Amino acid sequence: MTDKRNILVTSALPYANGPIHLGHLVEYIQTDIWARFQRLRGQTCYYVCADDAHGTPIMLRARQDGITPEELIATTHKEHTTDFADFLISFDNFYTTHSDENREIASNIYLKLREDGHIRTETIKQAYDPEAEMFLPDRFIKGTCPKCGAADQYGDNCEACGATYAPTDLINPVSAVSGATPIEKDSEQYFFKLSDFSEMLKKWMFEDNHVQTEIANKQAEWLEEGLQDWDISRNAPYWGFEIPDAPGKYFYVWMDAPMGYIASFKNLCDKTGLSFEDYWGKDSKNELYHFIGKDIARFHTLFWPAVLEGSGYRKPTAVFCHGFLTVNGQKMSKSRGTFIKARTYLNHLKPEYLRYYYAAKLSDSVDDIDLNLEDFMQRVNSDLVGKVVNIASRCAGFIQKKFDNQLASELPAPELYQDMVSAGDAIAGHFENREYSKAVREIMALADRANVYIDENKPWVLAKEKGQEGNVQKICTQGLNMFRLLMTYLKPILPETAEKSEGFLKTEFLWSNMDQPLLSQSINPFTPLIVRIEKEQTDAMTEDSKDNLQVAEPLTGPLADDPIFAEIQFDDFAKIDLRIARIVKAEHVAGADKLLQLTLDLGGQTKNVFAGIKSAYTPEDLEGKLTVMVANLAPRKMRFGMSEGMVLAAGPGGKDLFILNPDDGAEPGMRVK
Ligand code: MSP
Ligand code: ZN
Repeated sequence: MTDKRNILVTSALPYANGPIHLGHLVEYIQTDIWARFQRLRGQTCYYVCADDAHGTPIMLRARQDGITPEELIATTHKEHTTDFADFLISFDNFYTTHSDENREIASNIYLKLREDGHIRTETIKQAYDPEAEMFLPDRFIKGTCPKCGAADQYGDNCEACGATYAPTDLINPVSAVSGATPIEKDSEQYFFKLSDFSEMLKKWMFEDNHVQTEIANKQAEWLEEGLQDWDISRNAPYWGFEIPDAPGKYFYVWMDAPMGYIASFKNLCDKTGLSFEDYWGKDSKNELYHFIGKDIARFHTLFWPAVLEGSGYRKPTAVFCHGFLTVNGQKMSKSRGTFIKARTYLNHLKPEYLRYYYAAKLSDSVDDIDLNLEDFMQRVNSDLVGKVVNIASRCAGFIQKKFDNQLASELPAPELYQDMVSAGDAIAGHFENREYSKAVREIMALADRANVYIDENKPWVLAKEKGQEGNVQKICTQGLNMFRLLMTYLKPILPETAEKSEGFLKTEFLWSNMDQPLLSQSINPFTPLIVRIEKEQTDAMTEDSKDNLQVAEPLTGPLADDPIFAEIQFDDFAKIDLRIARIVKAEHVAGADKLLQLTLDLGGQTKNVFAGIKSAYTPEDLEGKLTVMVANLAPRKMRFGMSEGMVLAAGPGGKDLFILNPDDGAEPGMRVK
């Protein structure tokens, strides 16, 4: 091996206002496998992370729960810490952005940027909630989408049609904090002059391969348009760090969040005596990698390198982006029970199942990955239980019963063993390049070969033949040595099973000692290393994940008998002209037993409509009432005359028919929309 590498890796800092879920874990498992792989290869690799503990959502969430933000983030920190530990995430430090170290780092970086002229101020208009007396982030303004008319959309984008816009474009905007109508208010803000770093960023991104091509190409659009200065300040009340010399102004959470990487490492250095400068100094020769999701690529590939450059720190060696998790092919959903929290999963299933499944799916691309629960169960059962552990269980019994737990002194098929050792180079290459799915495929191909070897040599047959003892012992020793290689390769993915296997074979699995087979030594009795996943477990997990407050698909009631129609676009709906109408006259129709003839006043114009509501209403019930009609329905010739529209009513029929009544104040002719 070449010179030992010194590596620092990070995962994005999870927000401190919510639980860790299986989507987050794509990232933490991906990073952890990489860190463990590096360590297994003998490199020095530190892995740090922290809670992202600032920002408006955390402030408001604490307020809602009647606790202080400090209390909220302390509780969450405990939960996150145990969730990560239970998923075998091997952080060297899991800290928080709300720390003294981070406050100092953020202030110093800001002061340095200011000193060098990279900060400017400007008075801008922003949405302000006059009732809650606070400026509102886009996410906290809701209203009707200006594009498609969908109600209850966020201030920055519409989940119904995907449009992006400014909160001022929303129709009927309201503050999600108080319900008040936001007003615009001037305030002075602090901007980081990102454009000062355009040239550096172009070079960093395109010349030096620090970012995956697909991500770099996305950012190129911003670079070409010309980078906008970045508003790094927020007005009080805000939960975060106050900006030096700017009372009442706070750092925007995305300003001090990435600095949490530095602060977490600083805290580790202070605890262990590691050299901070070696990793973060401008001339650091050590490697630094950030693992992140594609949603936060812009912060990590534009703002962050620019801030680091401007404040005299080193920049990342690379930023590694991954895609998003879907469950059973769809976005995680509370009603479907696929929004699965880390803790809910752990209540039913072992962490290594998920680690293995994610590894089997992960590559170096930003494509989304799917957790299909059926496939998850089959894959884990057939690969880990059926192939890998099976090798050990097939061989261990003979060694224990017939040879007093003693391995043979030589391998009967040393070339096969060496072949499997040589395969390690390709496997290592795949791990290094984050092509875990390729690594897993190679490892499973080796497991297949090992099983074929045992199938062909049939120790269970030889064990019954006279004079074959020596061969049985050798064949099983070969099998256990192949198992040991497989578990060494899988160690970054399955650290717990690897550790149990090390106990079983009484040896530590190292990359550097693989070429030496285990011979003439004793081993421990075999115990099941991994057990199968049963369908009941994944079913119970899904059930536990269902949000019971939210009725998913009601099994009884109107929607069960008469499901909602296929989705339409707003344009389709907009074609229907609904109007308030006054029923000025209602009459029986001679010869019709279901119909009433209605004369509807639309505020000047009248329409004649035949309505099938006679079973529920008498003419006297109706005369003088306001209702809602479809005013632009093509007239229809009926046996009794022309019907020029339709009144709206609900109910199954008979006595149970209910026409719509507008609320007080509506007037004939008003449009319903
Ligand atoms: N706090 C910011 C990160 C600050 S880093 C200086 C944040 N937090 S987060 O909790 O929303 O997400 C943490 C990481 O988990 C992000 O990299 C995000 O992309 C990732 N994931 C969150 N949900 C995910 C999926 N459903 N699928 C895959 N990764 C996801 O962003
Ligand atoms: Zn919309």
